Amino acid sequence: MPSKKAATKKSNKPKKNAAIDTLLTENRLFKPAAAFTKQANAKKEIYARAKKNPVKFWESMASELVWKKKWSKGLKWKAPDAEWFVGGKLNVTESCLDRHIKEGRKNKAALIWEGEPGDKRTLTYFDLYRQVNKFANVLKKLGVKKGDRVALYLPMIPELMIACLACARIGAVHSVVFGGFSPESLRDRINDLKAKILVTADGGYRRGQIIPLKHDADVAIAECPSIEHVVIVKRGDFLLRIKEGRDHWYHRLMQEADNYCAPTYMDSEDLLFILYTSGTTGKPKGIMHSCGGYLTGVYATTKLVFDLKEDDLFWCTADIGWVTGHSYLVYGPTACGATQVMFEGAPDWPDKDRLWQIVEDYGVNIFYTAPTAIRAFMKWGESWPGQHDLTSLRLLGTVGEPINPEAWIWYHKVIGGKKCPIVDTWWQTETGNILITPLPGITATKPGSATHTFPGVEAKILDDDGNEVKEGGGYLALTKPWPAMLKGIWGDRKRFIDAYWSKWPGIYFPGDGAKIDKGKYFWILGRVDDVINTAGHRLSTMEVESALVEHPSVVEAAVVGIPHDLKGEALAAFVTLGGGKEFNDKTISILKDFVARKIGAIAKPDRIINAPELPKTRSGKIMRRLLRDIAIGKLLGDTTTLADPDVLSKIKKEYEED
Ligand code: WTA
Repeated sequence: MPSKKAATKKSNKPKKNAAIDTLLTENRLFKPAAAFTKQANAKKEIYARAKKNPVKFWESMASELVWKKKWSKGLKWKAPDAEWFVGGKLNVTESCLDRHIKEGRKNKAALIWEGEPGDKRTLTYFDLYRQVNKFANVLKKLGVKKGDRVALYLPMIPELMIACLACARIGAVHSVVFGGFSPESLRDRINDLKAKILVTADGGYRRGQIIPLKHDADVAIAECPSIEHVVIVKRGDFLLRIKEGRDHWYHRLMQEADNYCAPTYMDSEDLLFILYTSGTTGKPKGIMHSCGGYLTGVYATTKLVFDLKEDDLFWCTADIGWVTGHSYLVYGPTACGATQVMFEGAPDWPDKDRLWQIVEDYGVNIFYTAPTAIRAFMKWGESWPGQHDLTSLRLLGTVGEPINPEAWIWYHKVIGGKKCPIVDTWWQTETGNILITPLPGITATKPGSATHTFPGVEAKILDDDGNEVKEGGGYLALTKPWPAMLKGIWGDRKRFIDAYWSKWPGIYFPGDGAKIDKGKYFWILGRVDDVINTAGHRLSTMEVESALVEHPSVVEAAVVGIPHDLKGEALAAFVTLGGGKEFNDKTISILKDFVARKIGAIAKPDRIINAPELPKTRSGKIMRRLLRDIAIGKLLGDTTTLADPDVLSKIKKEYEED
């Protein structure tokens, strides 16, 4: 283990005129173990091969999938429109299901599922194949045709995955709406999609409470004229109202359905799904993904980033309501023929060791989760994972937010037993698959850095004028097309161009700030909307937060800019203290000094506010925008994507008392 002394330290003065100044330097380096390298799916030559001819590289990955008709051209590119595998025809479920049935995985477990109350189900590849075929026939019978939109509003049960794949089987476009979203969110998405069918459940479980999904769906679709039928999966014995003619029980329809449904062959560029992303700002956008390119992207990254082997048990903890669940649960692992865990519940129910219990019970090998979860595990303490045998783990991953080095090290030591490589994977709903990431067995990792681009991907750091920043901070930019890239925003071409393609000509702007170091490692600094301009310096909130979290009393921090007469903006830091630590004036001055010492006086927060919890989206991203509203005393903006609305009023009170 590299020494703590070599950890984060002050860098030189921030560079003037940089798009974003950089403050922290992290020097610890973790080289892959020789034994891991020897068995890894990705070999070093892959980078040079992909660089030489990226399209050819992607074509070689695509050719590992099942195609009805081979493409005639790898890529046709006229920014912002990319056509991948032009002229190719496929049905993605043939790669995810049919071929496994034929190639010796018929009785292999595809899904090992555990429900929140502790109920368990295992579905083999044949089970999954059979159910998908049957449900595809159900949808057909209800009048669903190629290109029709089907909304899915379900808990994390196998039927959610079955429904996604059944839509794909018949060329219908699924749109999953996270089961924790409100009736209004569901209504707005269904109306934007003009979905014909809604698949839901009688209810779901969340920390012992019942979520009345069908009831909420009824409220939503009272204002959704496009919905013709509702299919209800029976999850429990939950009360509900059935509207004759419109509402149907899933199990009844399945009983009558034929066993086999011939796949509908799709053009490589035909739509596979639409997924809404609101991120932390603005009105949700319906992100469109297509068949051939998307499947190629998620297949290649699942195989190479997670180093999946035939006998591995893979577990991505994300809900299918998010893109991570689409790419690294529904499509990527099944395209690889993997066995995976699917879990319905929460990590702290009935106790804070639920995930570690699952790792131990089933012998999970590869575990993929979010920094927000890792910070929660840290807050709960080592004793929870400590009660379990986690030695089956061989690879760990993170996604969703920048991971601060302290959390990375904790994950490495406490969960990974210092022996698992960590893949910090940067990507977005829009990018479809992982784009910046280590390749285990090849990349030496640095805690907090997503390291390098995946083979075949090209990213740069640019300034406002589009000049490349060779070392330092700026905007992250994707300078070449990649197969799983978004095809647009459903019904809003202008927003698609404005949001992603108008900062520099022909270059994709993801909206994130990042820096690149001497060794050509990328460090994601978070959303550029969150950058603070103080006394002429543009600081990433993430770096100040990272410094705060290094203090032993702080488990989580969110930093925002507040107007300041002299500096333009000053920093306000909302902090969550750990282990029952008391928040008082002394804490405030200790933390201010700590930041000043760690990264310099310019980053010293003017205010430190106690926040027993931070406002987050349902997928765990901190909503700094709302904290900014609190800090400047503004009425709160759109809070519909907030996981727990009560958190805000608690913080507001602390802020006003401060
Ligand atoms: C952030 C999730 C730093 C980033 C797959 C991005 C990350 C947004 C990382 C997309 C990472 C995701 N390091 N930041 N490894 N991964 N992000 O659409 O700001 O839910 O733009 O997709 O999350 O979030 P989304």
